Amino acid sequence: MLRSFKHMASLAMLMLPLAANATDAQTLAKAQGIPHPAVIAHRGASFDAPESTKPAYVLARDLGADYLELDLQRTRDNVLVVVHDDVLARTSDVAARFPERKASPVSAFTLEELKSLDAGTWFNQAYPQRAREAFRGLKILTLDEVIDIAEANPAHKPGLYIETKVPNQFPGIEQQLKQKLEARGWLDQPGRVILQTFDRNSLALLHQHMPKVPKILLLWVGKGAIEPASGKNFADSGEPDKAAFYARQEPKSEAEFLRWLDLAVKGGAIGTGPSATRAQLGEQSYADLIKPWMNKASHERGLLVHVYTLDEQVDFDKAMKAGVDGIFTNRAGELMRFYGRSPEKDEGQLLKTMGY
Ligand code: G3P
Ligand code: CA
Repeated sequence: MLRSFKHMASLAMLMLPLAANATDAQTLAKAQGIPHPAVIAHRGASFDAPESTKPAYVLARDLGADYLELDLQRTRDNVLVVVHDDVLARTSDVAARFPERKASPVSAFTLEELKSLDAGTWFNQAYPQRAREAFRGLKILTLDEVIDIAEANPAHKPGLYIETKVPNQFPGIEQQLKQKLEARGWLDQPGRVILQTFDRNSLALLHQHMPKVPKILLLWVGKGAIEPASGKNFADSGEPDKAAFYARQEPKSEAEFLRWLDLAVKGGAIGTGPSATRAQLGEQSYADLIKPWMNKASHERGLLVHVYTLDEQVDFDKAMKAGVDGIFTNRAGELMRFYGRSPEKDEGQLLKTMGY
């Protein structure tokens, strides 16, 4: 299906006055040019291909995801790159290539150094059942390269959902991002880009430089974020199982959760990105911040709710019934099928067609 942000943009312009007072989430989304419910491909189609690499983003695009999600960082020589972790050890062979800098931040490497890393083989080792020979030697991508991917399929051009990652390490990254998006012509159509951050200072800077671009404040229970009832972070809890620990975490009070919604509104966000607990727990399962009363309170404040990060039908179903407006997922195809927007080709067929 051809997704036309231009068409949605004109609709959005027409609906803006109406949306100002609307509490209906679908109307709120339309007013921003944001699909509802939204399919947000978390680090690309990162269940089936190494996260934040070319096959992950091309697959997510060709499955029909509404947005390619990415975590933005910057190289030592000032190039915007797409990497999730603060360090490179989990998703590359940095320990073999640069052993003395294996624990150094992304910002300690030049683009040339990052491009010399293998960002695919770790996936084959971690997930042998989904391994593909052609994933070996995949490269870390620049923001420009992800934009190229998003623009390259004339039948479907997804938007970008960009997180400023560890922004305090990258002074000026918000303005640099604006300049890049502007230069690439990505700020002309409402809803084509969504900006997201956990960091309220970065939210303020994003809002200062791109006041018209929709922004999401990511929500988290822990010290420095939504104050937990337990008063503990996982790191100082002494507990062995991270997902089980987070599943028990909740805001210290209803008022504390509502305070964060109000901070989102004040910071210029049009929505929140809360965490969720997965039925099967696991690596990306966190505190449940999508209880129905929480989503209702968000909508009452005119905020959309895009929850991170769910991959299973049982979790999609629970989240939608709780009232969320979009889902970050590593399995964009699975979410498309859940929404009744089944891709013509499945993940295996598409990866084969792409040469992987
Ligand atoms: O950006 C939403 C979600 O991606 C936040 O978690 O750690 O996967 O970036 P993380
Ligand atoms: Ca992210």
